[in-house]
Amino acid sequence: MPKVKFELQNVEVEVEAGTSLLDAAKEGGAKMGDACGGNLACSTCHVWVNAGEDSLSEIDEGEEDILDKAFDVRAESRLGCQACVSDQDITLVVTEESIAAWYDEHPDEKRPD
Ligand code: FES
Repeated sequence: MPKVKFELQNVEVEVEAGTSLLDAAKEGGAKMGDACGGNLACSTCHVWVNAGEDSLSEIDEGEEDILDKAFDVRAESRLGCQACVSDQDITLVVTEESIAAWYDEHPDEKRPD
C-alpha cells in the first residue's frame, strides 16, 4: 500500500489506493483543514506535493477553480480532498492556510507558540 508522508508534522501513514490526501491526513492524525467537508467549496485543504505527484489522480477544472482562491499557490499545489493516491508514495507539506483552518475547526487544540 502507498504511504503518505506529511513533512513538518512527523506523520506517515499507509493507505489504500484511491484514498484522498485529506482522508490520509485523518487516518494518520495529520493536521489538514477541511472547512467544506471535502466538497470542493473552500481551499482549506491546500497542500504542496513534493514527491509522487505524477501518481495522484488528475487535477480537473473544478479543483483548479478552487485552487485559484487559495494562498501561495505553486506548481505543486493540490487540494487534499480531491487528490487521491494510487500506487506510489506521496510526500507533501500541508500549507499554513490549511493548518490555520484545522486549528479553527479544533478550538480545543492549542497551537504551539
Ligand atoms: S475541504 Fe474544501 S475544497 Fe477540500
